[in-house]
Amino acid sequence: MNFKTFILEHIWKLKPYSSARDEFKGKEGVFLDANENPVGSGLSEKWNRYPDPLQIAIKEQIATIKSCHTDQIFLGNGSDEAIDLLFRAFCNPGKDNVILLPPTYGMYGVSASINNVEIRNVALTPDFQLQPEKILAAGDTQTKILFICSPNNPSGNAAKREDIQYLLENFPGIVVVDEAYIDFSSEPSLIHELDQYPNLLVMQTFSKAWGLASLRLGMAFASPELIAILNQIKPPYNISGLTQETVLAALPNKGKVDELIQKIIEERTFLREELEKLPDVLKIHPSDANFLLVQVPDANRFYDGLIEEKVIVRNRSTVLHCEGCLRITVGTRDETLALLQAFEKIATN
Ligand SMILES: Cc1ncc(COP(=O)(O)O)c(C=O)c1O
Repeated sequence: MNFKTFILEHIWKLKPYSSARDEFKGKEGVFLDANENPVGSGLSEKWNRYPDPLQIAIKEQIATIKSCHTDQIFLGNGSDEAIDLLFRAFCNPGKDNVILLPPTYGMYGVSASINNVEIRNVALTPDFQLQPEKILAAGDTQTKILFICSPNNPSGNAAKREDIQYLLENFPGIVVVDEAYIDFSSEPSLIHELDQYPNLLVMQTFSKAWGLASLRLGMAFASPELIAILNQIKPPYNISGLTQETVLAALPNKGKVDELIQKIIEERTFLREELEKLPDVLKIHPSDANFLLVQVPDANRFYDGLIEEKVIVRNRSTVLHCEGCLRITVGTRDETLALLQAFEKIATN
């Protein structure tokens, strides 16, 4: 893929902001270059310096864990930052379009609308699989990005690998594969295929399996050329020092995270088995994620009833192919038991 012909002209020509910390990389010295307060806030002496704009220490550890190179990694303020930057780099407002595959994660559409970019929807099948030929037919010369969410939110299932590969080979723009939930799936990540597909961008996040949603740290993996474009247009210090320090402390605990993932997967099985025993549960969709999409006779009644019991789930019943469905996150055993108890109470009312 020749990004020079694909990227918006003003972005290609952009002279990015050069921060003080871009220019001098050393750690020792008398730092009078960034107009910082030299002594700190009085609350803490720790946070008076700007953080590393390119988060190199974190990327080195992620590169080892994911078996890729640091220049193939972009870090954003949540996955949402990478999504927004893709629109700003590649989509001409009012002119270009992107392809979304409903039902899917809502931020692709919101970001498209914020950036005044046309959305072309190609529905998933009723069992939430891709329709590759329809997707290719929906595009034209102004089509820039295809967003595939796998495992998908809100359905929970992974897309067929051969369909994603077919699209990577035939879609003439950037293919984003959002793997926010990949750690809960038996499917391997597409990160390992980056060298094969220059148009592939894989998104992952620290918000799910890593248990760090509050930090707001999303990862994007792609060719060094594509990552360089995102780095050029991001705000200079998009990841705070506090976030960087916390993630650096968490990354060596990958083994612990893997154990937690296993626990969540076991809890997902328990939740499924217990829900299946309830006569009001009509269908539980297959899940490769940390949630289940569950069909009940009257989703609004169940949703309201659960709220009354202080159990909050997501009502997805107005979403395409999700009629009567609630999306239920896998919680702790106690939370699962509270949900089941509330469910039974509503069912017998
Ligand atoms: C598919 C998908 N991608 C991305 C995100 C958001 O990730 P982040 O917290 O990194 O912005 C979510 C959040 O629910 C999601 O479901």
